[in-house]
Amino acid sequence: MRIIVEEDYESMSKKAALFVAGQIILKPDTVLGLATGSTPLGMYNELIEMYKREEVDFSEVITFNLDEYYHLPHDDLQSYHYFMKENFFKHINIKEENIHIPDGMAFDIEGECREYERAIEASGGIDLQVLGIGENGHIGFNEPAEQLNVYTNLVNLTEETIKVNSRFFSSPEEVPQKAVTVGMGTILKARRILLLANGEKKAEAIRDTVCGYVTTQVPSSFLQLHPDVTLILDKAAASLLYSDMI
Ligand code: GLP
Repeated sequence: MRIIVEEDYESMSKKAALFVAGQIILKPDTVLGLATGSTPLGMYNELIEMYKREEVDFSEVITFNLDEYYHLPHDDLQSYHYFMKENFFKHINIKEENIHIPDGMAFDIEGECREYERAIEASGGIDLQVLGIGENGHIGFNEPAEQLNVYTNLVNLTEETIKVNSRFFSSPEEVPQKAVTVGMGTILKARRILLLANGEKKAEAIRDTVCGYVTTQVPSSFLQLHPDVTLILDKAAASLLYSDMI
């Protein structure tokens, strides 16, 4: 694992945007795996600014988002469809047909999961997967559990995640109990992985990701098995790492 520690959220976001833009400059038809949550927002803003300055071109980029809530309409303000459109896609020159987000509204949800996997394969596989991390070490919506899913699947959210994510909803009762997420195997098949984390609340999860046992109780710990993972952190998220790891 390559670990980069930045002073604050702003410089973390700038570094992450440079990392993603560098990938697109080297391979304009990059297949990008994308994440939602508050963490990558700064990176998306930086990429939008880079696009406006004509430093990066998304016209050939293909994207696959990691996850979506189950049974939340696409135009719901908390859906990840809405989040991605408002915070990123509508500001750049990506082609509509190149955007993929799991459809949590699909009638045949198992068929939708299989189709999502097939589409990733058909695109040639993910070149760079951007990840955030949950306070409990979840990636995408792969929650700590006895067993983890390999492929895209419908999963139950943990009480902890429902509580943490309820900050975006009016009450915890409104948070969907289930979500569709790309599985652990699909994440680990990405050629490169970039994980972003900021703030003290993520420090334990980052410690367990980097130097804990590989365990299904900390899904992010499986990243230790991948040959090309970069972590870009702010100081607070890195605060429980020993200096010789950085
Ligand atoms: C959600 C998403 C994850 C994300 C996590 C962290 O649960 N499914 O993909 O990494 O939240 O969110 P935040 O960046 O807001 O802390």
